[in-house]
Amino acid sequence: MPLASGLSGSRVLVTAASQGIGFGAARALLAEGARVVVNSSNSDRLRRATQTLEAIGGEVHGVVADLRERADLDRLLEETVRQLGGLDVLVYVAGSPRPGLFMEQAFEDWDAAARLLVVSPAYLARRAAQSMLAGGRGGRMVFLASVAIREPIPNIATSNVCRIAIAGLVRTLARELGPKGIRVNGILPGYVLTDRLGEVLSDTARRRGTTPETERSLLERDIPLGRVCTPEELARVVVFLSSEMSSYVSGALLPVDGGLLRSVG
Ligand SMILES: NC(=O)c1ccc[n+]([C@@H]2O[C@H](COP(=O)([O-])OP(=O)(O)OC[C@H]3O[C@@H](n4cnc5c(N)ncnc54)[C@H](OP(=O)(O)O)[C@@H]3O)[C@@H](O)[C@H]2O)c1
Repeated sequence: MPLASGLSGSRVLVTAASQGIGFGAARALLAEGARVVVNSSNSDRLRRATQTLEAIGGEVHGVVADLRERADLDRLLEETVRQLGGLDVLVYVAGSPRPGLFMEQAFEDWDAAARLLVVSPAYLARRAAQSMLAGGRGGRMVFLASVAIREPIPNIATSNVCRIAIAGLVRTLARELGPKGIRVNGILPGYVLTDRLGEVLSDTARRRGTTPETERSLLERDIPLGRVCTPEELARVVVFLSSEMSSYVSGALLPVDGGLLRSVG
């Protein structure tokens, strides 16, 4: 039996999608025939991203909203449902908290990271679930986290701590919403070639007195597949979890890391 995503015509919201992982996911979902709303907090960047995606073909809308603001989350959901006529798939990608060691983080850094990685995904998931349940067709949610929730990465202290909440959210929602026809999964990317990775490599290089290129090759030496992930490779996993190809997968936290994680379980 040939594999078919069944995503054609599906109504999808991808957050934090003006570039990087979110943009790559939106592009791949559009290519599968999904109808897509992309979001980010910067109107210029989002307009450029939406124009690029439109050139691929298919239906795409942009909604500017800051994922840290409750009123913006409400408006994002309402606007998505208005544009698409409902919601079948939520792909939650977040912006990145400020990198830094634990001892460098101020109260405000923890507050901002917790908003982005704990409170907002939970709140948006509830709003999305309400919409999916009202539609009566079930749904899928995919949350982007990081391998850092299994093995903390130096220099991104707030992310190491706050992103663990995504694992709790995925498992909680999978149990509560599975009986109602909504599947919920998470992805744990290793290192993906985006601006965020460049930012982390530059920060590490500055601290160690090296260069970002040196830090990248040190990193790649530790990855069994010998290289970082492309946004396209990660996007294929988003498509899988958003689609009928993963019809019996729920509550999973799937590493996409080239074999980087050492821990079992
Ligand atoms: N790249 C990696 O290796 C890697 C690995 C594991 C996890 N992650 C995580 O995956 C997520 C995406 O990473 P990435 O590499 O794609 O980063 P990126 O290239 O820097 O893109 C981040 C995206 O988030 C958007 N954004 C930032 N703040 C936002 C806010 N408050 N509200 C709405 N959108 C916002 C940005 O758009 P605007 O600036 O237009 O708002 C941009 O589209 C991050 O949370 C990152 O920490 C990344």
